[in-house]
Amino acid sequence: MSCHNAYPEQIPFVSGKFINVPEGISCERCHRAGALHVEERLAEFTPRDSIDLTIINQTHLSISRQIDVCQQSHTTGAATVLKEGRGDFDFRPGQT
Ligand code: HEC
Repeated sequence: MSCHNAYPEQIPFVSGKFINVPEGISCERCHRAGALHVEERLAEFTPRDSIDLTIINQTHLSISRQIDVCQQSHTTGAATVLKEGRGDFDFRPGQT
């Protein structure tokens, strides 16, 4: 579930049941939410010389933060143990 799908709409306080499950991983699992990025581009496109902070570009993350993105799915353990209070879909690119 957490490796092969975009963010599902979860039933509050119920584990393992979902209101809907989008098919495919989607861009946001690696680039974060893109609404602001799209909004800015539609309003006025200005080529930038600096880093675009409206979206995550993996090449601008540290190696360790890049690997954290990959490890949403590519981990070596037999099981995933979440930190207390964290859910399967809480991680966002750029976080540890
Ligand atoms: C599994 C993770 C992952 C997913 C899913 C993903 N990307 Fe990426 N994307 C990357 C990585 C990593 C890079 C950086 C590659 C590089 O330059 O070496 C990248 C680079 C890009 C770039 C190039 C940015 C630049 O400055 O050149 C664009 C544009 C992009 N992705 C758009 C998308 C879109 C649109 C989607 C969804 C349809 C998507 N990505 C889904 C990981 C992902």
